[in-house]
Amino acid sequence: MKKIRAAVFASGAGSNFQAIMENDLLCEVALLVCDKPGARVLEKAEKFGVPTFVFDSKEYASKSDYEKELVHRLQQADISWIFLAGYMRIAGPTLLNAYENKIINIHPSLLPEFPGKDAIGQAFKAGVSTTGVTVHYIDDGIDTGPVIAQESIEVFSDDTAETLKERIQQVEHRLYPVVINRLMK
Ligand code: GAR
Repeated sequence: MKKIRAAVFASGAGSNFQAIMENDLLCEVALLVCDKPGARVLEKAEKFGVPTFVFDSKEYASKSDYEKELVHRLQQADISWIFLAGYMRIAGPTLLNAYENKIINIHPSLLPEFPGKDAIGQAFKAGVSTTGVTVHYIDDGIDTGPVIAQESIEVFSDDTAETLKERIQQVEHRLYPVVINRLMK
């Protein structure tokens, strides 16, 4: 049976992309979309032999212009699901309407707490005793949309932002592939 074809969107180091690729998925990651030319995730895509589409938003007149191009590329590659993995951009109506209920995101906090950039640093500075990881469907907000799965992580008194990040990312790398497979059934 033909596997569902999915795209991963990432802007950074790509540790979540790597975790997705190293798992036995019920779908095929057939495209990596990256909005940061030179991002480390691109080396990982090459290593795994995943085709990439890299774009620079500054080269387009508007969000709807680059999203039209994105949707075109996604449709060309027969993509039916999108997994955001450190993609630091808010989706607009062009992308959301083309992939309604088919775009999920992973975020390093227990949403709705600490949305946006540097969620781990935000939680650390706030001095919370528990934070976590959320996987959710996206909408047009910053890390908003219906929650699919959450896992809590205790913040230890001797944690630094770095040790906390390590533990949070370990959970991300385990949780995201499991949730993805659950949705592909
Ligand atoms: C991950 O921790 C992910 O949860 C976060 O960016 C990191 C990307 O790391 N995403 C967000 O903050 C989304 N708002 P990676 O490039 O090593 O996977």
